[in-house]
Amino acid sequence: MTDPGAHASDNSWVRGAVDHALVPAYQTHTATLRGIIRQRLVTRALRTYLPDPPGRILDLGGGDGIQAIALARLGYQVTICDPDPDMLRQAEENLLTETGTTRDHVTLILGDGHDAAGLVGGDWDATLCHGVLMYLPDPAPLLNVLAAVTRPGGTISVVGKNATALALRAGLQGRWHDTLTLLDDESRRATVTEIGNLGVPSRGDDPRHIQDLLTAAGTEPVAWHGIRVFTDHLGDTPPGPDLDTVIEAEWTSGSRDPYRQIARLYHLIHTRRP
Ligand SMILES: C[S@@+](CC[C@H](N)C(=O)[O-])C[C@H]1O[C@@H](n2cnc3c(N)ncnc32)[C@H](O)[C@@H]1O
Repeated sequence: MTDPGAHASDNSWVRGAVDHALVPAYQTHTATLRGIIRQRLVTRALRTYLPDPPGRILDLGGGDGIQAIALARLGYQVTICDPDPDMLRQAEENLLTETGTTRDHVTLILGDGHDAAGLVGGDWDATLCHGVLMYLPDPAPLLNVLAAVTRPGGTISVVGKNATALALRAGLQGRWHDTLTLLDDESRRATVTEIGNLGVPSRGDDPRHIQDLLTAAGTEPVAWHGIRVFTDHLGDTPPGPDLDTVIEAEWTSGSRDPYRQIARLYHLIHTRRP
């Protein structure tokens, strides 16, 4: 792990709330059916929209490297820029079980995504920002950085929490007071904050708002997928033998209206205007 951005590694976005317990909480979530579906659907969308390898990919907030490693196995050169040293250490550990070639395809940089231009430069073939915006007070500055460091014609991939259907999980779990509160918040505000998977407050955004911000930053929309339509209410249920069928149902529904509109997460693919 290199440390050019140590000065910028203020990850108080979550540290105060979970007392340095993000890595185990995230590892636990990643192993559940919901965590696996999220990562597998994101990888599938990236394989659909990214140009064939090799290519240089920047993963802002890439954390413990699940997505970076999946892409490195395919032959991409992936750089993670993340302000949390614990997450990067976990990425290093996850890389230990990979082949030497895959390990050589992943670079870890400690630093805040807002400083990416100075830390890792520009002209990236693709930039990713998955599961990060919901922890930032304002998504616009990081979206502007994503667009700025992507080469003209390059791909931008953003995953975040869908504010327009947050009440669905609570309703399907029978938490009726939470459901009514979330429905009330949704009707009053474009963004809604609630306690997310990691037990810390996180904000949902209307995917159309994120699309507008990305477009204003110099990109054009390519695709919008929804992630977790049928399985988001299943808590920590582990994957079963029907995992591939569940993923097929989630992919097919999340690729079309009206299902993608009520998915827990949005996955937006944009391209940088020439
Ligand atoms: C929920 S994890 C998601 C990890 C990974 N992207 C994924 O989808 O599995 C959120 C990550 O965002 C990172 N993060 C938080 N604030 C950030 C910022 N300002 N710039 C870059 N990364 C940030 C955290 O350190 C953490 O690794």
